[in-house]
Amino acid sequence: EKGGYEHFMIKEIHEQPQAIFDSLRGRLDPESLNITLSGLDKIKDKLINARRVIIVACGTSWHAGLLAEYWIEELCRLNVEVEYASEFRYRNPIITSDDVIIAISQSGETADTLVALENAKAQGATIFGIVNVVGSSIARISDAGIYTHAGPEIGVASTKAFSAQLTVLLLFAIKLAEFKNSTSEEIRKQLTKELSTVPEKVKYILDSTIENIKVIAKKYQGATDFLFLGRGYNFPIALEGALKLKEISYIHAEGYPAAEMKHGPIALVDETLPVVFVATKDRVHEKIVSNMQEIKARSGKLISVVTEDDQLAISLSDEHIKIPASHEMIAPILAVIPLQILSYYVGIERQIDVDRPRNLAKSVTVE
Ligand code: F6R
Repeated sequence: EKGGYEHFMIKEIHEQPQAIFDSLRGRLDPESLNITLSGLDKIKDKLINARRVIIVACGTSWHAGLLAEYWIEELCRLNVEVEYASEFRYRNPIITSDDVIIAISQSGETADTLVALENAKAQGATIFGIVNVVGSSIARISDAGIYTHAGPEIGVASTKAFSAQLTVLLLFAIKLAEFKNSTSEEIRKQLTKELSTVPEKVKYILDSTIENIKVIAKKYQGATDFLFLGRGYNFPIALEGALKLKEISYIHAEGYPAAEMKHGPIALVDETLPVVFVATKDRVHEKIVSNMQEIKARSGKLISVVTEDDQLAISLSDEHIKIPASHEMIAPILAVIPLQILSYYVGIERQIDVDRPRNLAKSVTVE
């Protein structure tokens, strides 16, 4: 059942090229670069005229939502808010029939997300579901949606469901930008083309980084804390890297926007603290490189995920993991892969039951 792998988690990490490919199949035509999303067509007018989009989710799915906010705002010039379902449902939020709610859920059964949607629906909002489990409660309550085609995810820590969510959310943003005419055709086509190459790039990352990451995991598995830093499109990935490590290794980890460091967390930095930088080349790259210098000056240990030709970032780092160059909006989908692998091997080093970490359930059906 684990297909020769030791754990479901590592099997599912390896299934990501397929999960992403399956989530694109029939939706992105690699020849014409046209995108077809029947779920989106169904509420096209609602979306074009929406006052704002509110994304509701929990945990890893919330991180996918945070990245979607950056994508949708950039490409569609539409207001997006991202909400933890548990906060949203108890806060008496202002919702109107001009709002579209995007619900993101692997299981489709997360209680807080489901009840938040029921409330929003009662107030007239349109619900768009991005769900992995077909026919689940959240799928059924949605007015329209797009399924992620990640296949069953057994490991408690979400991996392939996350990359499938990102895939579908980026497809959504590009298609909505087409409807709204808010991004040039040239940029949309470029993104679509690059998105079609993500499965092979993820495969390349799996083939080329694991041995190096195993060594890094062994070296840092005794740390008591980790910091994960990113900016822009890579900030949600820093949060996800920290969550994954906490769940699977029981090491305390925090994700932070790299520039927020100097407003407090930099006080934690000393020679015992590994700091993971998600630092692929993008519009804020120069900024994150100076954040790396700040950590280095305080003797923190720099582990960075970098674009493969980035000599400067590599020279600053104690350890580096190289990923292929890509459009800055695509890079986060690639950058999360090494962080999943890192948490898996740190968990293994620490002899944790990575498929069933303590205190966690695969699907949180109680609040
Ligand atoms: C983390 C993880 C959880 C889930 C969260 C939401 O690895 O798996 O944080 O992402 O419980 O679950 P779904 O997506 O099923 O609503």
